[in-house]
Amino acid sequence: MAPLAWIGHQLQLNENPYGPPPSVREALSAALSSANRYPEFLPQRLPRLIAERLGVAPDCIVVGAGATGVIMHIVQEFGSGGSSVVMAVPTFDGYPILTAMAGGRPVTVPLMLDGRQDLDAIAEAVDEQTRLVVLCSPHNPTGTLITPPEFEKFLLRIPPAVTVVLDEAYVDFVAPGERIDVLTLLDEHPNLLVLRTFSKAYGLAALRVGYAVGAPALIERVARWQLPFGMNALAEVAVRACYAAEPEIAERVTVIGEHRRRLTAGLRELGLCVPDSYANFSYLTLPGPDIDRVGTALAGANIHVKHYPTGLRITVGDRVATDAVLHTVRSTVQ
Ligand SMILES: Cc1ncc(COP(=O)(O)O)c(C=O)c1O
Repeated sequence: MAPLAWIGHQLQLNENPYGPPPSVREALSAALSSANRYPEFLPQRLPRLIAERLGVAPDCIVVGAGATGVIMHIVQEFGSGGSSVVMAVPTFDGYPILTAMAGGRPVTVPLMLDGRQDLDAIAEAVDEQTRLVVLCSPHNPTGTLITPPEFEKFLLRIPPAVTVVLDEAYVDFVAPGERIDVLTLLDEHPNLLVLRTFSKAYGLAALRVGYAVGAPALIERVARWQLPFGMNALAEVAVRACYAAEPEIAERVTVIGEHRRRLTAGLRELGLCVPDSYANFSYLTLPGPDIDRVGTALAGANIHVKHYPTGLRITVGDRVATDAVLHTVRSTVQ
């Protein structure tokens, strides 16, 4: 077998550096013998499983092929026909791409200098053409967090006819005390959809499982875009096994949090600007010419990160990856 070294450190997609726990791998291996069978026509069991876990009714959940699949269905329903979708820039690439695919118009609001979404400017960008507004917390690519009071205040500024997506793809990396109490807010705001994924903390990016939780009327509108037989049958097996392996998943999240703190601290010790990240990546803010210089040095060391106009987003990998990033950046900036 070819040595893995040539792959280098893949730190550009915010993947979990650790494969699924052994019990999840065993469940997936056992399920492979049924690969000749179709999945459910439209998913029922998986939303029920997730709903049970969250303590909500099953009709409050819609699943998709990753959060990306759910976003596609959301923009098909709310962001088509030239209507505007308000979002920060930069944000998760899926939002502008899928909005354009659905025939909508992305309206973008620059991040503030500290890497946070400008909630006032986003609320002000909502007009009669707006049917959807998107916030991410933690934000991709900067890792910054929206606090519960900030989000509650924001919701009160948005007209009830506009759907608000709160993308919590990275919420499992946030300390429980700092999370937004989304389930309570969903009761008060029937125009809110909260998005989650199993690709990050749960490490199931290859299997494509994401979901939205919201009021049944809104969920029903998103679900009508679902592709028959569109969900991977292994997704349900993997989610069920992950829920049974929560202590191991939590351990991985803790280790990733420790590496993130080490990566952030190491970059700051070099005098570099890194916002506090609450996700599984750190954002290295750099002046224009340094972005290419540092990015090229990292690529030369076989470390692959994502480039933005104001910096580099570096996924938190394992200890070896963190050492390699710090070593390369140190030798480039000093
Ligand atoms: C903020 C955010 N939302 C959604 C996604 C999509 O995740 P997936 O389609 O793998 O569930 C990502 C992926 O990086 C992301 O960063």
